[in-house]
Amino acid sequence: MATPMIAPSILSADFARLADEADAVAGADWLHVDVMDAHFVPNLTLGLPVVESLLQATDIPLDCHLMIEDPGRWAPPYAEAGAHNVTFHAEATDDPVAVARDIRAAGAKAGLSVKPNTPLEPYLEILRSVDTLLVMSVEPGFGGQSFIPSVLDKVRAARKLVDSGELSLIVEIDGGINVDTIEQAAEAGVDCFVAGSAVYGATDPAAAVAGLRRQAAK
Ligand code: DX5
Ligand code: ZN
Repeated sequence: MATPMIAPSILSADFARLADEADAVAGADWLHVDVMDAHFVPNLTLGLPVVESLLQATDIPLDCHLMIEDPGRWAPPYAEAGAHNVTFHAEATDDPVAVARDIRAAGAKAGLSVKPNTPLEPYLEILRSVDTLLVMSVEPGFGGQSFIPSVLDKVRAARKLVDSGELSLIVEIDGGINVDTIEQAAEAGVDCFVAGSAVYGATDPAAAVAGLRRQAAK
């Protein structure tokens, strides 16, 4: 098995000290950036100007998770700015293939995210057009919620398709990941684990990243 990837979510970081908070997780594979618009989800976080500043402040690849309406309009600028991944929600667009194409054309990897109650079946063909599948294991909008284990069926289904060569993408999970829940997600076949409160709520965030990676590799 490949080394598990860990993507700390800055949603649980101190927004007044984002450069330091990025430095605090130097061993992380990606830095997960939750963009919320107060429409697609009932919360508002940050947007393109903050992402542009973060790109200047850290070498860790940015994994931008857009919890926004109209990603066809708003997603490509994150790719142009230099984000490594730009992930949008399946529920937010009628044309995910076009959104993914535009993100890729603008220079980033494209990701498709599904909320806990969104089935994977209608999107299987579309998954051929993306680089990452982000399975939400909480309702998007807030950090610190409890992990929903039933979403692991989608992880298992995606893992099977990747292992059989039908799909080529990174399986990522987001929400409620900590040292207690990460093992079951790893067993189900997750490649990359987003963790907000479990990393930035720890006294030593870098040690928390290493601890999560160790636990996932068990
Ligand atoms: C929730 C966000 C998550 C959040 C995860 O909508 O997409 O990335 O930061 O936080 P934890 O790890 O605390 O559940
Ligand atoms: Zn997220």
